[in-house]
Amino acid sequence: MTVPMKRSAVNEIMREGEAFMRSFGFILPPFSRWSPGEMQARKSEIEGITGAALGWDITDFGLGDFGRTGLFLFTVRNGRLADLRQGRGMLYAEKAMIARKDQVTPMHRHVLKAEDIINRGGGTLVVELFGDTDGRCDRDKGTRVATDGIWRTLPPGHRLTLAPGESVTLMPGDWHAFWGEGGDVFVAEVSTVNDDNTDNIFEDPAVTRFSGIEEDEAPLHLLVSDYAAWLR
Ligand SMILES: [Fe+2]
Repeated sequence: MTVPMKRSAVNEIMREGEAFMRSFGFILPPFSRWSPGEMQARKSEIEGITGAALGWDITDFGLGDFGRTGLFLFTVRNGRLADLRQGRGMLYAEKAMIARKDQVTPMHRHVLKAEDIINRGGGTLVVELFGDTDGRCDRDKGTRVATDGIWRTLPPGHRLTLAPGESVTLMPGDWHAFWGEGGDVFVAEVSTVNDDNTDNIFEDPAVTRFSGIEEDEAPLHLLVSDYAAWLR
């Protein structure tokens, strides 16, 4: 059973996250500032936002301790699965993320998505990597990844340390976990089309991609995971 996050905590993380990214000169798109009421009022014209699951995404991965296991994400753009199948069209996605100091995004792989994980500023981003055997994280197997265009063969469990400006390209099947070291990190993800409902396989079966929410105050903005219930 997943432990819910309090809405008041989610609201506070939204405020802090927006200010942190703004400190690097990164400004979120206009729909980031809409209230739940504005989204409800414009429901019929914002299918391009809700259908693509753009927007705020704050998760503690269902483990109930955001500071220890969690991630701030904002999906800025996202393509179409139908285009990906066709091999032409809007095949890409972009997220802005914050990995706080010592805050882990747990070990996972993607089924379809290739992604570049980019340190845009702040502390050091540590990315721990393992290879895959039959869809499972193989802790005896390394992998081969490109960091800023340079191929590197890595032993099992290698921890890449990415300084601001550095990035790694991960392909489906590359098992990865990451966290901030020495400070909070402003992270970008540039990837192929993203479907967070189906594409994330976690090593630990207790981990869930989205958090449940306990409504202890009104939401500042809706989360992507709120759209189904709030914009019916
Ligand atoms: Fe990932």
